[in-house]
Amino acid sequence: MTHPTVRSHGRDASAHAPAPEGSTPARAEGRFAWRPEYSVGIEEIDVQHQELFRRAGLFIESLKRQSRQEIGILLSFLRLYCVTHFGAEEAWMRRAKYPGAAEHHRQHDQFIKDILALSDQHEKPRGTGIDPARVSGWLEKWLKHHVMEVDTDLARHLRATGTPPPDPEEPQE
Ligand SMILES: [Fe+2]
Ligand SMILES: [Fe+2]
Repeated sequence: MTHPTVRSHGRDASAHAPAPEGSTPARAEGRFAWRPEYSVGIEEIDVQHQELFRRAGLFIESLKRQSRQEIGILLSFLRLYCVTHFGAEEAWMRRAKYPGAAEHHRQHDQFIKDILALSDQHEKPRGTGIDPARVSGWLEKWLKHHVMEVDTDLARHLRATGTPPPDPEEPQE
């Protein structure tokens, strides 16, 4: 007996018919499955965060069974999207004259540095490689904290000031 998959359009979709214990469909995608509580309340940002979680999940999954080369590719795939997404948020912060921009920017930069350090560690021929449990825990914790605290504060400011999204062609500073 299977339950229809709950689509993510409405926050209340699962409230009517909670799945029986142990058969939650979200489990299939693991700890990087997108959840409605990660929403910052701005569609443009949520869509990008969904892609970020998807790429993080692909990278972590790859640690279990894929080749060294594929792991490296998926780590780059994650990093490149971080650069794109962080750039978009930073452009939006500038447009909104967000008071927390400097600290927010610093957290983005540190995360990219950490991902690059991970890539170096992964590529060292005789290095210890990546510890899946440690990296998975770190990545999950960082993403959830950043999205649910730091990005949520930013989104609150963007909504309060009614700042429209930046033009995608806007030059980076
Ligand atoms: Fe951010
Ligand atoms: Fe973000």
